Amino acid sequence: MSDVSITIRRNGPLVVQGPFQFIDSNGQTITVDKPVIALCRCGGSTNKPFCDGTHSKIGFQGAEAAVLAAEAAKAQSSS
Ligand code: FES
Repeated sequence: MSDVSITIRRNGPLVVQGPFQFIDSNGQTITVDKPVIALCRCGGSTNKPFCDGTHSKIGFQGAEAAVLAAEAAKAQSSS
């Protein structure tokens, strides 16, 4: 089992913790001097790929919450 964990925060970022290598799209290693990082999942961060807290300001809903809300709205409109 890996020592790295990736935790999906409810309606928030992906939190990566453990001994990891961070590599950009050009294959270059990005030096990160923190043992824990939060990666943006909402697309709204001004500091991508890192989370800057914008998700809470824009009301980001993770996929599960968004699907539940859409299904509830659909059920309500058909009743
Ligand atoms: S997940 Fe936090 S700013 Fe996008």
